[in-house]
Amino acid sequence: MTQFDATQSILRHHAKSADPATLWQHSVILHGASGRGGALESANIPHDYRHYTPVDAPPLDSQPKAKQFVDRYTQLIGEHFTTGHRLKSLYFVSASPGTGKTTIACALLNEFIAVNYVAGLQGHDNYRNPAYFLDANEWQATYNLGVTLGDGNAYLRKFTSQLEKALTAQLCVIDDLAVSALTDGFRRHLHTLINGRMLAGKPTIYTSNVALRELLLSLGDDRLADRVKDMCAEVAFVGGSKRGVR
Ligand SMILES: Nc1ncnc2c1ncn2[C@@H]1O[C@H](COP(=O)(O)OP(=O)(O)OP(=O)(O)O)[C@@H](O)[C@H]1O
Ligand SMILES: [Mg+2]
Repeated sequence: MTQFDATQSILRHHAKSADPATLWQHSVILHGASGRGGALESANIPHDYRHYTPVDAPPLDSQPKAKQFVDRYTQLIGEHFTTGHRLKSLYFVSASPGTGKTTIACALLNEFIAVNYVAGLQGHDNYRNPAYFLDANEWQATYNLGVTLGDGNAYLRKFTSQLEKALTAQLCVIDDLAVSALTDGFRRHLHTLINGRMLAGKPTIYTSNVALRELLLSLGDDRLADRVKDMCAEVAFVGGSKRGVR
């Protein structure tokens, strides 16, 4: 088993003066000893996106408008844990794929997990379930399979468990909202999630290729579209796909 490389740690910019062994010990709690466990695994963050931070994620260089939002939001994540500042929701959108939306959404989710961990170390209040990443497409596919297979199957259990985690996490990314057409059954559950988070005052970071003003048409439900817009800033990502650029 290869050991986790602490230069990839989401704590790296918080612990500049720490010696490598100390940084590694703390990082393992978040990344797992192999890099495939810990708090980031619990938060369901895709493996390829676990090392991004809002300080140095590559898309920030070519997204100056998004970078302004990210810099401010990063500061507010810190204030959330010190002053109780209430974070707003964000809606990352671009017509083109591959512009860095999921990368930056994960960078902010990683930052929330990192600052939550540091808050705990410093004896401040923190969350047992700070963050969760939900791929809306995959979640719908799990639901469809579960419904097809009938009562009590593993897909339905997974679907319900993901709903609970996404509802209870303090910060949640809902990735690829409205990218595929919603079935009536699934739409009700998506509504339960988004409405539940709104009522609990919990912020959500959405990514989508549909602009907020066109969301009603894509979701087919004005009450659902309205709840997404609650306390939410739309952030446009520009340019063409950078997928494959390293
Ligand atoms: N401006 C950029 N500079 C360098 N790499 C980038 C840039 N934008 C995106 N990338 C890289 O391209 C890949 C795809 O990015 P990402 O998954 O964040 O795109 P996306 O906007 O979510 O795409 P989609 O709409 O298809 O979901 C990642 O490896 C990411 O690091
Ligand atoms: Mg994406």
